Amino acid sequence: MVKLLAVDDTPSSLELLSESLRQEGLAIFTSTDPEEGLELVYREHPQVVLLDLVMPKLSGLQMLERIVEFDPAIDVILMTAHYTTETAVEAIQKGACDYLNKPVSIPALRTRVAKLVADVRQQQRALQLDQELLETCRFEGMIGRSPLMWELFARIRRVAPHYRSALITGPTGTGKDLVATALHSLSPAGSGRFVTCNCSAVVETLFESELFGYVKGAFTGANSDKMGLIEYAHGGTLFLDEIGDMPLATQAKLLRTLQNQEVTRVGSVTPRKVDVHVVAATNRDVGELIAQKLFREDLYYRLAMVELKTPALNERKEDLPLLEKYFLERFSTQFNKEIRGLTRRAQILLAKHSWPGNIRELENTLGHASMMTVSDVIDVEDLPQSLRRPNGGTPAAAGESSQGSDSSASFEDHEKGLLVDALARAGGNQSEAARILKISRDRMRYKMAKYDLR
Ligand SMILES: Nc1ncnc2c1ncn2[C@@H]1O[C@H](COP(=O)(O)OP(=O)(O)O)[C@@H](O)[C@H]1O
Ligand SMILES: [Mg+2]
Repeated sequence: MVKLLAVDDTPSSLELLSESLRQEGLAIFTSTDPEEGLELVYREHPQVVLLDLVMPKLSGLQMLERIVEFDPAIDVILMTAHYTTETAVEAIQKGACDYLNKPVSIPALRTRVAKLVADVRQQQRALQLDQELLETCRFEGMIGRSPLMWELFARIRRVAPHYRSALITGPTGTGKDLVATALHSLSPAGSGRFVTCNCSAVVETLFESELFGYVKGAFTGANSDKMGLIEYAHGGTLFLDEIGDMPLATQAKLLRTLQNQEVTRVGSVTPRKVDVHVVAATNRDVGELIAQKLFREDLYYRLAMVELKTPALNERKEDLPLLEKYFLERFSTQFNKEIRGLTRRAQILLAKHSWPGNIRELENTLGHASMMTVSDVIDVEDLPQSLRRPNGGTPAAAGESSQGSDSSASFEDHEKGLLVDALARAGGNQSEAARILKISRDRMRYKMAKYDLR
């Protein structure tokens, strides 16, 4: 339903207007009082407003200013018996969409309003189509319309009912966690627990007791029997994130569990039967890890019977507009703002960026911009400095070839900047930041301590 408001201090002109403009799909509101008229603007949010120029209390021009301030997209048409070119120009500059001489020609006004109503309807339809597109491109919490993502969705759908173990590979921030949850919830284990073990966060010596549990007396401090994560996930799914960080000895034991569907607690000799789906994920090159003897080839083949690859954002830039819309909607709700979109310039800037941190980086970028912006449209100024650099270069590349691009800054400043940047891209995850910078985790910890970063 399109809404139109007419404000004029002469009741008879209002009657004439509402009589002659009456048409299907158009709700007409009228008021003879400008202040009450403004109240109606705020309350009803009409798409079209007809204003008399000369009224007591508030003039049409003053009202126009308030309306434009409230929503610049409202079409305001001014009407006056005292037409001058000067006021016409002033009105148009202040944001009026037309300026008509009184007595207004009713047929001309009818045509005019019919056209505006048609425009508004078309806009509403377009918005609805956008919304429908977003709905159809949503799969288990993931957004994507690119062929690569449709393929991934289709594979998840096909594999989920049948797999026992699976491996998800792909760069950081590409949605591996989401794929793991999708596999779980579409599998027969979907009603069971989803248990996550982040292998990069487990201390090496505690790995086995963490995963397999232990019996009383297995080691000093083992005062009672304890169940491990695998048994805890019985009937559900165990998600082994960053499996590339799992020690080789633990890998061997895990392989046995996958083959026999049983666990042996540390310190025990009796295996226990378990029924568990195992999903592993890594952003490292597993072939490389195998070559370096850091990953067992047999475990890889066992897991990779079902391998799902999450594509980098750079390979599917056509997903950007939908992702932008999706995140802006989310952050609008989160920050209680009404963010309607991005300016064209800002969209172009996002499209040019290479997104080394993938969706996570996009999410952080738009989250930050949504928080900072004072307008309802995000513009270039709201985006981080790093995106506005000519080539939005990756920190790793910039680090290696620091050709004194900012020679005034000390090496320390430069290095600290790279660390901060990488941490932001990795969403605060140290291991991932280390990988972006191509340095070891220990080195990352050392550097963070050096610069007092958290
Ligand atoms: N296709 C997608 N649609 C919407 N959000 C996504 C998508 N892929 C990733 N995300 C979001 O991006 C962030 C990083 O995803 P995550 O699964 O943690 O990546 P990874 O595990 O590959 O590093 C998360 O907040 C996730 O919700
Ligand atoms: Mg992850």
